[in-house]
Formats: sequence, C-alpha cells, structure tokens
Amino acid sequence: MKIAFAKPEQTNSGTLVVGVSDERKLTPSAAALDKKSGGILTRAMSSSRFKGRKDEILDIVAPKGLPLSRIVLAGLGKLDKIDALRMQAVGGTLVAHLNRVGETTATMQVDQLPGAPLGAPDMAAHVAYGAKLRSYRFDKYRTKEKEENKPSLRALNLMVTDVAAARKSSAPLDRTADAIFFSRDLISEPPNVIYPETFAERCKRLTAVGIKVEVLDEKQLAKLGFNTLLAVGQGSVRPSRVVVMSWNGAPKAKDKRPLAFCGKGVCFDTGGISIKPSAGMEDMKWDMAGAGVVAGLMEALAARRAKVNAVGVVGLVENMPSGSAARPSDIVKSLSGKTVEILNTDAEGRLVLADVCWYTQDRFKPKAMIDLATLTGAVIVALGHEYAGIMSNNDDLTKNLISAGEAVGEKLWRLPLGEAYDRDIDSDAADVKNIGSNRAAGTIIGAQFIQRFVNDVPWAHLDIAGVAWSKKDTATVPKGATAFGLRLLDRMVADHYEEAG
Ligand code: BES
Ligand code: MN
Ligand code: ZN
Repeated sequence: MKIAFAKPEQTNSGTLVVGVSDERKLTPSAAALDKKSGGILTRAMSSSRFKGRKDEILDIVAPKGLPLSRIVLAGLGKLDKIDALRMQAVGGTLVAHLNRVGETTATMQVDQLPGAPLGAPDMAAHVAYGAKLRSYRFDKYRTKEKEENKPSLRALNLMVTDVAAARKSSAPLDRTADAIFFSRDLISEPPNVIYPETFAERCKRLTAVGIKVEVLDEKQLAKLGFNTLLAVGQGSVRPSRVVVMSWNGAPKAKDKRPLAFCGKGVCFDTGGISIKPSAGMEDMKWDMAGAGVVAGLMEALAARRAKVNAVGVVGLVENMPSGSAARPSDIVKSLSGKTVEILNTDAEGRLVLADVCWYTQDRFKPKAMIDLATLTGAVIVALGHEYAGIMSNNDDLTKNLISAGEAVGEKLWRLPLGEAYDRDIDSDAADVKNIGSNRAAGTIIGAQFIQRFVNDVPWAHLDIAGVAWSKKDTATVPKGATAFGLRLLDRMVADHYEEAG
C-alpha cells in the first residue's frame, strides 16, 4: 500500500474519507461535503448510531450526484483528545475497514481543527503511521491465496494544506514503522527459517544504517565463558550465536556510556529435556521476540539518527531435547563466575539472559540496561495480554519506561522484586538454581534470577510473554507478531536519553 500526502483538491474517484468528531461535529471538509451533496452526511448519520466517537466508521456507498464510490465518515472522538495515538488508531481502523469492503484507493481530508491538541500536518502524519502499521501482513508463504481475499487497498492519499510539514512529521515515523516491520518479520518467520545463524545474518542489514554488528560464534562464546547460554543451545544441531549491535549516535556526549538493550532470542523453545506438552508448542517460534524487538529497536534508533549511544545484545539459541541436551540437575558455571543448577531446562530464557546481561554490563558499563524476554507463562496469568510485566532495581527508570509505554500504547505494569523472593532461588548444590521451589510468583522468580547477573547497573526486565504475539487485531497492530517494546523503548530514548540539538 502506498501512502502519500497531497494538497487538498477535488476528489473524483474512489473513496473519500472525512473526519467527524464526537457529538457528530463535522470537520470543515465534512461540512463542505455535506453541503455540496445536499446533506447526505447529516442524513446518513441520523439514520445510524454513528456519533463520531473514536473507532467509529460510517460508510455512505455510491453517494448520489458525486463521482465517488463511497464516502467514509471516520470518528475522531472528542476534539480535545485528538493526539498522536488517536490519529494512529484512525489510520489503522480506516485501512482495515477499506480492505474489508474491497476499496483500492482512498483519499482522506485532514483539516486543522481548532481545539485539537495536534495540528493538521501531525494529524495526517499519524494517520499515515497508523495506516502503515495496520497494513502489516506476513504472507510471503501464502502462495495460493485468492486475489479477492488479499487486502485490496493500494493507495491512501492524505490531503493536508501544509504538505511539506506533514511529510517532515511523517518521515521519522515511517522509518520507525519499517523497523517495526523488520522486527515483526523476524518474529513471524518459522523456526526452520530463522534460527541463531540466520537471525544473526539478518542483523547484518543494520550495517546499512550505520550500526556496528558483531556476531559471536560458539567458539568465541565458549572461550569467553557463555556457559549457561551454551548449555541451552547444546541440545540443538543449530549452533548458538550472540549478536552485539552498537549505535554511536552521540559520539561527543560528555557521558559516553551507552544505553543497553538485551534480548532473549530462543528461536524455538521445546522446553528441552523438561519438554513442553505438544499442544500449543508452535507458539514457541516467537520465543525470540525479545531479540527481534532489540534488533528492530537498534534499526529504529539508527534510522532516525537518534542522538544516543546504544548497544543491543541478543542471545540466540534453540532449546531442543537430544542426547547432547542439558539435563535437569546439570550445574554450569556462568560467565559471571556464579554456578547455576539447571533444575528445569524449560526455564531457559533466564539462562540465556544471565550470560547476555552479565556480558553487557561488564563490557559496556551502560547507563542503564533493559532486557526484553518472553520469559514466563506466569506473566500471562497475572496480566493477560494487555500489559507487559516490568521488574526493576530502579524507580526512575521504571517511571520513564511506564510513561513512555503509555504514550505509545504499550503498557507496562510493575511487579515487585525482593529479598524474600530471591531466597527461593538459592540452590543446595550451586550458587543459584534456575527455578523457584514451587509455582508461586513465577514471573518475579524469573526476574530475580536475571538480577543475580546484573550487578548494580540501573536495570529493568520486561516480561513480554503475554504481549509479543496477538491473537486478535487492534487498531494499529494486526494479529500476529506485535514487536511490543520497540515503540516504547524508542520513545523512552527520545524522551530521556537523547542529547539536545
Ligand atoms: N518461553 C517460555 C515462556 C512462555 C510461555 C512464553 C508462554 C510465551 C508464552 C519460557 O521459556 C518457559 O518455558 N517458562 C516456564 C518457566 C518455568 C519452567 C519456571 C513457564 O513459564 O512455564
Ligand atoms: Mn522455556
Ligand atoms: Zn522460552
């Protein structure tokens, strides 16, 4: 789908979209169209429930006397609530609607609305962003799909008086959307296509935007001592990898320490010898979503030339049962020097992150470190699919992450950490064990384990198991891989870690 901005002009074909805010308040272009058409907008509204509330859509098909296939009234909601997220939702909802009804081209008029927090160019840019995000579809392996079942919309034109301003506002959002698509693709690919080596290979595309990409292979990892990570991968025929992606966007900063992002990249999680039940095991292809988001985030930061030093480190493994797999009761010496008793080979994400987080803080001395992981089923029990869990040793970092999440619609809910929980992973045989003594507080236990490997760097752990993959469409996120965390972290960097100027 092509999205373009243009100056307002007469629309003579296809669908014309105009906005209506709450209480059926017509935007100027809607009012003009209503007048020109002898009041069909007003009449259509009064014969329906459409009120112009958010997410509402009203179709007027084949409007008499106009050369249009359809007029769409898009509900904008309350005027004073028209912000970036609101307009993204308008764009996303619109695209889904037009694809459903089979439209191929649509033009939306975006007016300056007195009383709205956002000016028309920004409104148009965010409609474009939401439209693009919703248009994502992972269909490369669907070779026999009938044309009539494919999305129909080819072109969305946004008419706005200040075209240059809209384009300027849209450009960085468009690049962020591309980075989100990169993430979503990685996460959606099946595990016979994306495994540690091929994931690492795909990260190399980031060199094109100025990121330094280092790939550590098994030999190097063994030499460095990434033994808990390697223990997870040792049952697989696919060798493990760690990818380090560095973006040096603030070379002249007084404080050059980077922000660090670590990702769990379990390209497939069978559970290993502590094997999972077969029902639903296919979901474990997206057990590398944390790593997929970190890779996409690095691209997003570099693509918009973020004035920040950042490093992304992803631990890539495949967790398989085999004669060479780790056994429950194995004891492994982690990179940090701490010994780990592996009591459940299905609690593997924390073993990967133990080495990745230790390595990252030790090598880069980051200002702050954030890890993303589809770590526990327990976070789904606690928070469902609405919020990701956040656990942190730092209140300011937590606050910044939560508010960035609110701004972009990726919500976080904090769970506690503490000494009493930590006691539960003391091992009788080693320094620490990788599970607690029972099912209690499973998400927190996972975080406590990782915390043993982060030293005192300000750190936050995002458990994204409930939000990395969606079974239903939302306005800007079609079902499937969400890339949850990318927009949130990009926003947090922009709000708190970029240099002025
Ligand atoms: N990858 C899973 C967690 C998961 C579950 C992610 C469902 C997405 C959806 C993780 O590796 C895992 O298996 N966790 C175990 C931990 C347990 C053995 C302590 C779990 O949640 O059951
Ligand atoms: Mn597991
Ligand atoms: Zn896992």
